[in-house]
This record gives sequence, structure tokens and C-alpha cells, in this order.
Amino acid sequence: MIYSEKDKKFKRYTVTSALPYANGPVHIGHLAGVYVPADIYVRYLRSQGEEVMFIGGSDEHGVPITIKARREGVTPQDIVDRYHGIIKESFKELGISFDIYSRTSSPEHHKTAAEFFKKLYEEGKFVEKTSMQYYDEEAHQFLADRYITGTCPHCGNEHAYGDQCEACGTSLNATDLINPKSALSGNPPVMKETKHWYLPLNEDEPWLRQWILEDHKGDWKTNVYGQCKSWIDAGLQPRAVTRDLDWGVKVPLEGTDGKVLYVWFDAPIGYISFTKQLKGDDWEKWWKDQDTKLVHFIGKDNIVFHCIIFPSMLHADGSYILPQNVPANEFLNLEGDKISTSRNWAVWLHEYLKEFPGKQDVLRYTLCSNAPETKDNDFTWKDFQLKNNSELVAILGNFVNRTLVLTHKFYGGRVPVAGPWGELEQETIREMAAIPEKVGRSIESYRFREALAEMMNLARVGNKYLTDTEPWKLIKSDSERTATVMNLSLQICANLAILCEPFLPFTSAKIRRMMNLGANLRWRDAGSAELLAANMLMEKPELLFEQIDDATIEHQVAKLLETKKQNALNAWMPAEVKPTVAFEDFGKMDIRVGTVLECTKVPKADKLLKFLIEDGMGTRTIVSGIAKFYPEPEKLVGMQVCFIANFAPRKLKGVESQGMILSAEDKDGRLVLVTPSQLVTPGCNVG
Ligand code: 2FM
Ligand code: ZN
Repeated sequence: MIYSEKDKKFKRYTVTSALPYANGPVHIGHLAGVYVPADIYVRYLRSQGEEVMFIGGSDEHGVPITIKARREGVTPQDIVDRYHGIIKESFKELGISFDIYSRTSSPEHHKTAAEFFKKLYEEGKFVEKTSMQYYDEEAHQFLADRYITGTCPHCGNEHAYGDQCEACGTSLNATDLINPKSALSGNPPVMKETKHWYLPLNEDEPWLRQWILEDHKGDWKTNVYGQCKSWIDAGLQPRAVTRDLDWGVKVPLEGTDGKVLYVWFDAPIGYISFTKQLKGDDWEKWWKDQDTKLVHFIGKDNIVFHCIIFPSMLHADGSYILPQNVPANEFLNLEGDKISTSRNWAVWLHEYLKEFPGKQDVLRYTLCSNAPETKDNDFTWKDFQLKNNSELVAILGNFVNRTLVLTHKFYGGRVPVAGPWGELEQETIREMAAIPEKVGRSIESYRFREALAEMMNLARVGNKYLTDTEPWKLIKSDSERTATVMNLSLQICANLAILCEPFLPFTSAKIRRMMNLGANLRWRDAGSAELLAANMLMEKPELLFEQIDDATIEHQVAKLLETKKQNALNAWMPAEVKPTVAFEDFGKMDIRVGTVLECTKVPKADKLLKFLIEDGMGTRTIVSGIAKFYPEPEKLVGMQVCFIANFAPRKLKGVESQGMILSAEDKDGRLVLVTPSQLVTPGCNVG
């Protein structure tokens, strides 16, 4: 039974999840924002006996893919083949239960997207416009915004892109850039006329306003509604749906060589073309029947595309249904920092699966309990450990394990016959019976964190019941009542197997296996204390979850610290040049070459080395703070160094230093001695 359909009972559900770009693997941000909630939703609906189709696939077009391919010297197809495989495999391993996971580079998709465009074109739904655009005369190519670099007019960053300056975060137009250059040839681009097709979104404003801001007021999430409202209130503009590019779905019109559909035009059509791949001739009812509920799971950066642009495309065609809901999530951060593919600041799904084998549900649990449903949230490894150890192990695992262990100990693994329920049992059963509806209502309202917490409350009810009745003691005095207690505890375990399935499918399967439940128990059965017949045999229990120790967590944190360090190195820039000095000022410095005669550590000073230098006139002692970088100082003997000979002497740790040895500071903070490239006479000048 579906609990919260307000006005209408739908016959079937078309559930889509945003198509990830196939230019990198999937990370925890994608999972928490889109795929884990979508999977919980569809698993729940299936358990409710609903007819559901869950669509996923890779988004394989777009400029970033062509740029990555160029950088690596391979084709865009090579790039998407590599990542599509990794993404598809890792989703499967995490138990994301797509009915199909396809890809937009497939011929079927190209055909569907081209036909979609062609129909709108033939019905006059587009506006044709010519505009001036940057063109690279050497590469014979129009330049997408990302292919143009130049100086940001706001902050002076010389490496800003035509769509954005990454230094100051400002959105730009390619024509804003000062000294624009083509990323293809490095030449300044020229302006050239080009023709494109536009979706006149401005004409859609009245019905969009009614449909989103009136009809869906109160039922779409506040973040989604708010974004749509500000777009609509700001006034919608015609939107180009074609691009000058050679990677994508070719524009299906005569004389349009070198033009493809804009990636955001073709990608959502992927939901439709994948349905055709999955359902064949039976595809239409999933997209055209008013009794189908269409729901798009996405992240917040996709809101305008799924709430305004794609619906406008569907509306322009006229034969499609529109989404009933678009439950977009906010973003998940990692250890206090924005997740970023380019900075490698992420927990990658395929790596997690390798490093935490068999722990898919721990990740699913952590991401769901911390999902960024109403605001951005943070993933920390400490929290991951805590959720595993204090919730999954201590609450859910503990309850199921205690119940099954005692069943084996007392009854050889068979479900004991229950006597009449006492007051405590009746109260416990009442609490249990209320939970499925609470979980269901929360899931149907896209409040997955709340739903998960409710599910866990059933394990809490079970633990409390065991603590109140203490069957391990009761068995000595009242075997009849113990049988009742154990029977009810087992019934609660069977209920947990049903209720945890959308969230923790691997755990559910394990409980079902241990309890010989089979796959028949569904949502409608949950809440009952009569799921198990007396005498049913339980298998030997295994632990559902294991503790995660500190060392495992520290290892992950250390990996991230290493990434931070690498990022700092990558972001290194030479220091700004100091104010100009006159030649005479430079002449005041007496820099010379000397030969190292002795070199030893200064006692009780970790950082200092004491050099004895042959300087052509005799010897001098110089102390230098580079001990950390030269752990074997004796090896420096014989080497030549540069030093400032007229530096005022000063005492360091009781040793008088008569000059200063020159060293270069590398980007990682390492100090390296500066030395002439050939042997020279000690005492000669540097200048
Ligand atoms: O933001 C993204 O990752 C896009 N690739 C999502 C596309 S969703 C759909 F429209 F295909
Ligand atoms: Zn800038």
C-alpha cells in the first residue's frame, strides 16, 4: 500500500537518476546526492509490489570529455569507454539496482535524440539565430567557451576560461576575456558568424509558472522550488540547443556539418532512449501514460535542466508526461572541503569497494544517514566509523545476532512456539506495527534520513525488548515465557529483513539467508508478529557487521592528507618579485664561492649544520639551518657552496657564524644548497 499519494494512485513509476559524465569515476558526493536515495526509493516501491522502471546511464558527450581526450592524446570514445565501464561496474557492486544502465554514445541513443530534435524542428518549435562566435582559423573550428583562455577582467588571472574564472569564481562570457587565446592552436581566435537553434523558453513561462509554482507548491522540496522560482522570476531566455563541436549527436539537418546537439539537450533524452532499449515496443506507456509517475533524482546543479529545460522539451513535443517530482539534493562535502574531481578530493566508489570489501551497506548507511537533503553536509571518516560501530554493529547487528545465537543455544536453531502475548509483547508489537508506515511515508516524501532512522528504531525496539525480558536469565526460571520472548524477537528480525532492504540490501539478504526467509516477504507483510511459523529452522548466525578499527580510519585520513599536500604542491606559484633594487645596492652584497672542509651537526640544535669553509684567504665558520635536508653532513665535504662573505657575524647556539650559505627553497619547502656548475677557485666572487 502506498501511503502518501495525495490525489492520485499511479499505475507505474518511471524513476530516473542523473546520468554521470563519463569523464571520471563516481564518488560519494554523487552517491549521497542521487544514487543511494534513488535506489532506496525504487527498492521500496518494488517491495510494495509497484511496477517500477529505474533508469541510469553515462552521459558521454560534452566539452570536458573532448578536452580530457585531447590532453591525454586519445579519442573521446576512449575516454568514455574507460569510465563507463568503471562506473557501471561499481554501481552494480554497490547494489544500485538499475533496470538498465546504458550510455549516450550508443547508436540507439543517437537515433532517439536526433529524432526528438527533428520532430521539434519540423513542427517549428525552435527559433533559428545567427550569432558571432570565436573561431580558430588554424584548427578550422569554432571554439566552445572552455576552449578559450585569457585574462579575467575581474581579478587579472591570466588562465581564466571562456565560461568561468577558476581563480575568482566569476561566470564569464568568452567575449569578456582580455587577450583571448584558442586552447587548440594557442592563436588569438577570430569572430565568425554561426547559426544555431534555440528553444524559446521565454514562451514557456506562463505554463511553467502555473505547473511548478502553483501546481507543485508544497510538494516539491523547498530548495528545488526556490531555484525554479528565481529562474522564472528573472525571466526565461531562449536557449541554444546546438553547438559547433564534432563530439555529440549530429544535428540531423542538411548542411550542418560540425554541429551537434547541446549535451544538455541530448542527455535527458537518454532517459527515453534507454527506456526504448529496455522495453522495446512497450516503451511508450512509461513516458506517455498519465498514470505513470515520473520522478527525476538529481543533484542541485541539475535543477534548472530537469525542472525547466527538459520539461519544456517534453512539452514542446506534446506527447510526453512531465515529472511529478524532482527531489534534488544539495552537495556532500568531504572532511570540510568541497568534493572535487580535479583536485582528487573525493572518496571514489571503485576504490572504496576495493578497500572495504563486503562493506557496501556501511557506505550506503553512512551516506543515507548523512544525506544532504536540505543543506550541504559533510562526510568524515570518523563519522563513518562511528555510524558503523555505534549504530550498525551496536544496534542492528547486535539485536539480530543476540536473537539468533540464543535461538541456537536454547532451541537448536528452531523457532520456539509462542505462548499468549503478555502486555509487554502487545506493546512491543504495537510499536513494531507502526514502523512500516512511518518508513514508507518518509520514503514517499523523499525524506530518506528520517526513513532510515525509523527503520533503525525497530532494531532499538528489539534491543529494548531483550533488555527488558533478559531471556538469557529467564530461561532458568520460566522456559515457557522464554519461548514467547524468543519467538517475538525472531519475528522482529524477520521484520527488519523487510524494512532494511531498501537501505541495506546486502544485510537484508544475509538476514533472509540466515533465517531461511526466501524472497517472498514484502512490505505489505511488515508489521506482523506472525511472519515465522513455529519450528522453522534458522541457519548458524554470522555477524552482520564488524567493528572498524582506528587504524583503518587513520589510513584513510592519511590518504586525504597526502592529497592535500599534493594539491598544495600543484597550486605552487613562484613568489612575487620584490621591489626593484639599484645595481649599486646589489654590489653591496659580497657573494663568494667556498669549499667545504668540514661539516658537522651543531649539538642540541636539530636544524643547524656547522660548516668550515676554505674561502681563499683562510677558513671561516658558517652555521646554516639545513640539517633536516642533509642527514649525512660528512658527505658535503669537498663540495663548493656560495656564501655571503660580508654578512655581519652572529652567534647561533653558541657558535659564531661568519657569513651565510645560499640555498634554494623548493616548492615543498626543501632547502637545496646552491653550488657552481664547475669547480672554481675558492674565494672567487659571484655576481
Ligand atoms: O551534471 C551531470 O553530471 C550531468 N551529466 C547530468 C546529466 S543528467 C541527464 F540529463 F542526463
Ligand atoms: Zn577572475
